[in-house]
Amino acid sequence: MDGSVFTPEEFRDAPDLDTLIERVAAHGMTPGWIDRKKPILWPEPNTDFKPAHWRYSEVKAAMDAAARLIDTELAERRNLALRNPIENNDFATTRTLVNAYQTILPGEEAKSHRHAPHALRVILESRGAWSIVDGDKHPMETGDIVLTPGMCWHGHGHDGQDQAYWLDGLDVPLVHLLEPMCVEGHPDGMEPVRKVTPDSPFRFTWERTQRELDAARPDPEGFFGTRIAYDTSQTMPTIGINVTRLETGQTTRPYRSTANTTYTVMQGSGTTIVDGHAIDWSFGDTFAVPIWKGVEHRAGADSVLFSMTDEPVMRFCKYWRFEALD
Ligand SMILES: [Fe+2]
Repeated sequence: MDGSVFTPEEFRDAPDLDTLIERVAAHGMTPGWIDRKKPILWPEPNTDFKPAHWRYSEVKAAMDAAARLIDTELAERRNLALRNPIENNDFATTRTLVNAYQTILPGEEAKSHRHAPHALRVILESRGAWSIVDGDKHPMETGDIVLTPGMCWHGHGHDGQDQAYWLDGLDVPLVHLLEPMCVEGHPDGMEPVRKVTPDSPFRFTWERTQRELDAARPDPEGFFGTRIAYDTSQTMPTIGINVTRLETGQTTRPYRSTANTTYTVMQGSGTTIVDGHAIDWSFGDTFAVPIWKGVEHRAGADSVLFSMTDEPVMRFCKYWRFEALD
């Protein structure tokens, strides 16, 4: 390093510990033994991120105002990110994941772009919206779960009559941490359609989700209710996708894990206890369960919960832990 302040002899001859610390600090080193505001290691998983809840009725009203106040020419994506209410956090919903609600009006188009982060959509209300993913056009209808893996071109439009609403889910905070971010707009604005694929492998229809839930058996240990997983291991391996069905009155056993998870209500209503906080949810709501926070569902009606999670990342890294809390 140029501009060295101290010589090797001055390190070797440091008269006391404080002087040594001062001298190594000047050369870009920090002792492992000093006290820090945030320690390097701590005894168990911990996070500043909080359990948090966004009500669809409120978000939808705000999106309706956004639809009135800004068009998709100015806002390539007309969306509202769900910012976890902690200090120094700009947009992230959990440490690794972000959710946002997005709306599009009949006749509008949201131009094609591509980016490093993996993305998915949960379609809350739509008849006639569509996506073009790498040239393949597929519908986005109410209840669909749609994937746009990283660096796939994607643009959206709407040929229906009524305003459409969906939830976006991305791993942007993880990409920020690891720093392989990139984004580019498509040279044609909206990517040309190569073929129309209603049965796109990137689209899981509500009908398919219902069919798979009908065929699934309840978790024998009682933590998850009846739950299916959609395989994202080959397409967007940082985000796991589950859909959970709970019957009226059903409760699940409390647990905590090293995954960050967000839930979006596809059907029904109920309460989830997250780290002791009761979150009363209904259709369209999203709530966040950060790492190592206890989670326990109580369905007030027949309910379906979409969830996205960084569990695959935690498992890949061998950081995965799971603990029953009863
Ligand atoms: Fe995008």
